[in-house]
Amino acid sequence: MPKIKFTIITLFPEALKPYLDSSMLYKAQDRGIIAIEYVNLRDFGLGPHKSVDDTPYGGGDGMLLRCEPVFAAIESVKAVSPDAEVILPTPVGMTWNQDLARQFAGVDTTDTSERHYIILCPHYEGYDERILTIIDHKISLGNYVLTGGELPALILIDSISRLLPGVLGGETSALIESFSDGDNLEYPQYTKPADFRGLKVPEILLSGDHGKIAAWRAEHSGKKAN
Ligand code: ADE
Repeated sequence: MPKIKFTIITLFPEALKPYLDSSMLYKAQDRGIIAIEYVNLRDFGLGPHKSVDDTPYGGGDGMLLRCEPVFAAIESVKAVSPDAEVILPTPVGMTWNQDLARQFAGVDTTDTSERHYIILCPHYEGYDERILTIIDHKISLGNYVLTGGELPALILIDSISRLLPGVLGGETSALIESFSDGDNLEYPQYTKPADFRGLKVPEILLSGDHGKIAAWRAEHSGKKAN
């Protein structure tokens, strides 16, 4: 049983799959740590054209995601997984950060039950406000507007999954790195060669003195720019 299952409700599953089926997220799925399921919103569209959007009452530009296909898609997932929590990426949501990623990953709890997140990817210019009644978490990826929820869905899945034991190569790499300690950014790191075009690796890192190296790293852990 995976630790976390993600169901992505989207009009563009083909835009998501290449990323999620690569690299660490591929491995996380292959190892059974996460599971990713795609639900095509179009399958729940209305009429012969499988329409999912319509014009706003009161006038205005653009098309809004309609309630019926969205509710039907979410209810189809909840029918088999009633406790699944629904996430809506939206610029008016709570701003995503590392603390939230840890909470959603459940890494600081002893609760080992499987978590299931349904990520609804809106598209077009917006959504009918009544859709919010079926949403558990509104999440913003930052103070800018994207064309849809697919990129946020990738970021949410990536930032949550990499915290789960067994996803990253070194078991401690998620612990020591950037943001794990408040706003501390990780210390500068170097690999071979020790001298690249005259740019030298700090001598202390070549010394083998683990105490001094730890002190140097603590001293050189950066702070966020803003
Ligand atoms: N959809 C459009 N813009 C977004 C943002 N900044 N964060 C989350 N979802 C979005």
